[in-house]
Amino acid sequence: MQLVILEEFSMTDISVIGLGSMGTALARAQMKAGRSVTVWNRTPEKATALGSEGATVAATVSEAISASPVTITCVKSHPQTIELLSNAANSLPNKTIIELSTGGAEDAEDLAQLVENAGASWMVGIINAYPHMIGDKDTVLSVVGTEEQWKIHGPIIRNLGGSSVHVGGQAGMLAALFAGLFTVRQGFMWGMIYGALAAKKAGIPMQTFSDLVPISMGMMKPYYDYFAATAPQATYDNPPASMSTYAAALEDVLASFEALGVRDELPRLFVEMAQLGMDQGLEDKALTAIIDVLAQKQ
Ligand SMILES: NC(=O)c1ccc[n+]([C@@H]2O[C@H](COP(=O)([O-])OP(=O)(O)OC[C@H]3O[C@@H](n4cnc5c(N)ncnc54)[C@H](OP(=O)(O)O)[C@@H]3O)[C@@H](O)[C@H]2O)c1
Repeated sequence: MQLVILEEFSMTDISVIGLGSMGTALARAQMKAGRSVTVWNRTPEKATALGSEGATVAATVSEAISASPVTITCVKSHPQTIELLSNAANSLPNKTIIELSTGGAEDAEDLAQLVENAGASWMVGIINAYPHMIGDKDTVLSVVGTEEQWKIHGPIIRNLGGSSVHVGGQAGMLAALFAGLFTVRQGFMWGMIYGALAAKKAGIPMQTFSDLVPISMGMMKPYYDYFAATAPQATYDNPPASMSTYAAALEDVLASFEALGVRDELPRLFVEMAQLGMDQGLEDKALTAIIDVLAQKQ
């Protein structure tokens, strides 16, 4: 009897819970890809437009989850998804939840645990795009989950972002990925801030400094190319400039900051980090060999 009820509920290919600007775009992309879609939103009015476009509108979260083998959740953040799923645990067995709300590492792990305990499978993703970019071939969702889940549900995720990537199997990895990539951008931002500080204190016009930044940044492409060719294999040999060359240049930079009498935390950090590599006898390696030196330290 129960099986019959389940079959009756399994009416659509995919359900989407949360119809804010992002959830609505996710649901539309799935409909555009030819999937039948069930939707649910806390404020029911937001489901009206999708309903008129052909989506089935569920009255409850349980009903939405029961309606499809796979449910995408996209609400405020993981705690809100956890709350919604906790109250609909009876509908979870044998389902897959793809959580696309943005959130932190611990909450992602809690969510994965909750879903597993309820007899369901999970994937968690970060959407690196605005809603209007959902469905584009260049759009990237970074997702975690087992290889098997990625194999099965990759097509759904690639309908949302054609260049999506599978990062690994731990729910908490995405927060670290975000932190890592944000740190790369912030490295540039804080480099400009401290660079401008030295230039300003030395009386160099800010316009001149600003105009020269893009010329200096021309070196970024070779930096990145060498990083991409070596860091994945952790081979740091035959660099275009060795660690000892950088260490000496960084000492000079720090000396300039000291002579100017300005705050020098950033160049001082660079000197200290390069010294760690030099102390390990890595002077002929690339500066990026520091990654593994730091990874071994607490
Ligand atoms: N918009 C973007 O550009 C963008 C880009 C990347 C990632 N994201 C991520 O996508 C997620 C949704 O963003 P959005 O832009 O769609 O936000 P939004 O337009 O503000 O919509 C928020 C959604 O979450 C629902 N919600 C909030 N708290 C809830 C609760 N306690 N219980 C049930 N539902 C709740 C809202 O329901 P109601 O309608 O009832 O309020 C609404 O459906 C966020 O995690 C965001 O970080 C968004």
